[in-house]
Amino acid sequence: SCYLALLFPCPDRCNQILRNMEASLTARDRVGIQDFVLLDAYTSESAFLDNLRKRFHENLIYTYIGTLLVSVNPYKELDIYSKKQMDTYMGVNFFELPPHIYALADNVFRTMQSEFNNHFILISGESGAGKTEASKKILQFYAVSCPSTKLLNNVRDRLLLSNPVLEAFGNAKTLKNDNSSRFGKYMDIQFDHQGGAVGGHILSYLLEKSRVVHQNHGERNFHIFYQLVEGGEEDLLRWLGLERNCQHYSYLVQGGCAKVSSINDKSDWRMVQKALSVIEFNESDIEHLFGIIASVLHLGNIKFVADVRGYASLNNNQEMHWLLGIPAQVLQQGLTHRKIEAKAEEVFSPFSVDHAVYARDALAKAIYGRTFNWLVNKINESLANKDSSRKTVIGLLDIYGFEVFNVNSFEQFCINYCNEKLQQLFIQLTLKSEQEEYEMEGIEWEPVPYFNNKIICDLVEEKHRGIISLLDEECLRPGEATDLTLLEKMEETIGGHPHFVTHKLADQKTRKTLERGDFRLLHYAGEVTYCVVGFLDKNNDLLYRNGKEVMRQSKNAIIKHCFPSTEPDSKRRPETVVTQFKSSLVGLTEILMSKEPWYVRCIKPNEAKQPGRFDDVLVRHQVKYLGLMEHLRVRRAGFAYRRKYDIFLQRYKPLCPDTWPNWKGTAAEGVRCLIKHLGYKPDEYKMGRSKIFIRHPRTLFATEDAFQVLKGDYQKQRDAATKIENCWRGIMARKEREKRAWAVKVIKKFIKGFITRNQPACNDNSEYLAYVRQNYLTRLRENLPKTVLEKDSWLTPPPIMKEASQLLKKLYIRHMVGKYVQGITPQRKAQLVLKAQTSSMFKGKKENYPFSVCRPFVDTRIGAEDINIKVLQMIQHEHIKYSVPVVKYDRNGFRPRLRQLIFTQEAAYLVEEAKIKQRIDYISLKGVSVSNLSDNFLILHVTCDDIKQKGDLVLQCDYLFEALTKLSVIANKQNYIKVVQGSVRFDIQPGREGFVDFKSGQESMVYRAKNGHLMVVSVKIIKGSC
Ligand SMILES: Nc1ncnc2c1ncn2[C@@H]1O[C@H](COP(=O)(O)OP(=O)(O)OP(=O)(O)O)[C@@H](O)[C@H]1O
Ligand SMILES: [Mg+2]
Repeated sequence: SCYLALLFPCPDRCNQILRNMEASLTARDRVGIQDFVLLDAYTSESAFLDNLRKRFHENLIYTYIGTLLVSVNPYKELDIYSKKQMDTYMGVNFFELPPHIYALADNVFRTMQSEFNNHFILISGESGAGKTEASKKILQFYAVSCPSTKLLNNVRDRLLLSNPVLEAFGNAKTLKNDNSSRFGKYMDIQFDHQGGAVGGHILSYLLEKSRVVHQNHGERNFHIFYQLVEGGEEDLLRWLGLERNCQHYSYLVQGGCAKVSSINDKSDWRMVQKALSVIEFNESDIEHLFGIIASVLHLGNIKFVADVRGYASLNNNQEMHWLLGIPAQVLQQGLTHRKIEAKAEEVFSPFSVDHAVYARDALAKAIYGRTFNWLVNKINESLANKDSSRKTVIGLLDIYGFEVFNVNSFEQFCINYCNEKLQQLFIQLTLKSEQEEYEMEGIEWEPVPYFNNKIICDLVEEKHRGIISLLDEECLRPGEATDLTLLEKMEETIGGHPHFVTHKLADQKTRKTLERGDFRLLHYAGEVTYCVVGFLDKNNDLLYRNGKEVMRQSKNAIIKHCFPSTEPDSKRRPETVVTQFKSSLVGLTEILMSKEPWYVRCIKPNEAKQPGRFDDVLVRHQVKYLGLMEHLRVRRAGFAYRRKYDIFLQRYKPLCPDTWPNWKGTAAEGVRCLIKHLGYKPDEYKMGRSKIFIRHPRTLFATEDAFQVLKGDYQKQRDAATKIENCWRGIMARKEREKRAWAVKVIKKFIKGFITRNQPACNDNSEYLAYVRQNYLTRLRENLPKTVLEKDSWLTPPPIMKEASQLLKKLYIRHMVGKYVQGITPQRKAQLVLKAQTSSMFKGKKENYPFSVCRPFVDTRIGAEDINIKVLQMIQHEHIKYSVPVVKYDRNGFRPRLRQLIFTQEAAYLVEEAKIKQRIDYISLKGVSVSNLSDNFLILHVTCDDIKQKGDLVLQCDYLFEALTKLSVIANKQNYIKVVQGSVRFDIQPGREGFVDFKSGQESMVYRAKNGHLMVVSVKIIKGSC
């Protein structure tokens, strides 16, 4: 109330709040405290029990100790596992709702998702406390809350349905529990990045095989036997040779309670059938599986009698032919004889009746045990996730709890050893993580005294001195080892150990409570007296070698698989049961150590399996050995409560005007301001790096109560804020809707326009077409050809712009040409006119024409200064227009000679130095021949009337095209120039003819051919190379 006085100075208001607070306090009293960490008297077992009891009677079976969940078996159906409940707990802050197994499951899942690491949930408690139920609830929660697809649902169904199958084969009714798990189970659920459950894997631990052949009074064999006999279809039973009567089978009736009202074997049978089909058991698997179950029942009914020599023989063999397709003779021999190998010989030594029964039972146990392992593997195959991407896992460990019966044997020894190991792990993990938290937050660690059970673990498992080693030694040593020699050996070796006592070692008082064959261990969870009888046998778990050989003859595929011929024979002894168990526990510890731990501690409220009964003594004992008080002490070491600053501030900020409604600084500063306002005293809290630690629960309660009171007002404000927010959001949403409606209209119109774009212009497409036009024109503007030569790279128009595009193209080309023409000089124009003429004469006709195109024409190739002065004097009056060097070929003999060819206004002259060798008047020029190939030959044909006159001229000129174009212009003789193919005839002199032959070849050559022709070979020009 001191905080409240600070908070609310007005006395009236304060009184009212106090009244309210009392009301809420009694309310809390009635249902106890949800988290034991907030229990003031946290060291008092009675206070702990009171809280548990109060809640139990209100059907509040779950309570936290921090993040550990304590669960009390209600022994009745509670309405707290509905889909609605699951939804409520999905994604909600752990401490905001009442404790629930779903809250834990959800918290584990979300931590895994956000931290991307592996976790396990250890569910512990004694037989009947509700471990298996708890693990099923967790699995169901994941099945509903994880993302779902068709594929994932498939995995989900298999994960869920693996349970009924494993329970049918591995659970049985015991005195403690009608559905007691008789094997330990660790199951990994694998999740992908999105949190989908994509696979699973199961490890099983130490099935209680002895139950197959023997059940204590009031207990049953494994469920599956009864399910088959009660629920199996007529045909199936007939095929298996079974009768629908459990009383008929000696393996089913030893406990005297084949029928139990709480178990419906028939409907369970149907469930198992359905489950088997979902997890991919095919018909032959199922046939073989039930063949084995039936065979075990038949095996149990085989009886032996002693013959005259006292040896065992079968008293009937009608059961024989039902047994796994093994020849009766082989089986009979196997059950009544033992094979001994003496040197190279095999000798069969007959059994006594007791021995035969022992061998039969060993065989039944081996068959069932191995089939169970096969079953687990088969389920694992169906749960396996094949894709190899990284997964995170949540492991569920539902393993037998600490077990104390009136008579405890080897099985209890193993089970309780397992619990010691788990307690060790628990101590390491909790203390370690707690210490880490303090260190991380920079708060001084105050050590808590706790009992470390390592001393007991060592007593059991230490090499050479531990009970396991002694047991194995005794099993393996030659000579007459018995259970009692084992006891003696233990007394010798570990007699002084504070946690070990026997009849011989005990003091007077204790001795009264011990039989001679007993030894007692002081487990962390309490004393357990073990009867040593049977330890050696059970640890050896011997199956005579011929037992295995007999099995190998079976036609049953599962049996064949379970008794492979590659298995090493008994020459090398197999590991003992306890050693195998020890190594499987080492493996389990490794698996768990690499993951983040979470705990569910199950408590059994009474031995009578009745709802509403809370047996104080029984619960107190469990609270003790489950280490709950220790856990609480550790959690409370110094501080009862801790919470991240932001979460604490978020919740309690309404309690301080400075932090309400919004705090601008860091969360830590906000919390500091808040608790200053609330008046926390310095020794009541500590500020860590990211969390506030509060020492006493009452401090927190006062804060929480004040908050509850304020919450009313706060709620009103929040409602008002919500209303305003609603209106505002409404306005925004309406605006948004208008905008969207407008967008929809525009998009619709666009689409309609697109669809009707090829139809004549109409209302629907007018806007679309306008858009298309504009778009085309814009693009066209950016992509116009840059020069006349690119005139064909015209942007392809859309159909409606075809015509416009053509017109535009025409206009634009004309425009470009105009611009080009305007830009050229008169000289260049004259050049181009000449070039055009050359083109009209040779384009497409003569091979090497294209090469000439790019070579500009010049006025002349020989300057006036290079023409002999005498020649100049002779012809100057005719105006020299053009001169070029040529090679002239003699008309006779075709010798090449260098000459000058000069064109004047009147005639063409062939000149050698100062001599004019020939004058050809243009009038007498009949024609000019050139070949179509790539040579540079020209033949001038001259009219020849006079015998003295020289004949036609055969010339070669490097500037052939230039020279001929000039000639054609000067002499105005375009049509005289002929492009010919193959051969040119020419006049040597009137009446005498010569020939020039043209052809293409590898290299150019000119020579006189044998036929007297001039052969001109020119290189072939491939089209396109120029
Ligand atoms: N949350 C629950 N709600 C209702 N009944 C429950 C709940 N938990 C357990 N029970 C009842 O208690 C019985 C025993 O529970 P369960 O089989 O889970 O015990 P266990 O701890 O697995 O025991 P064991 O170690 O023998 O396997 C169940 O068959 C069921 O009837
Ligand atoms: Mg169980």
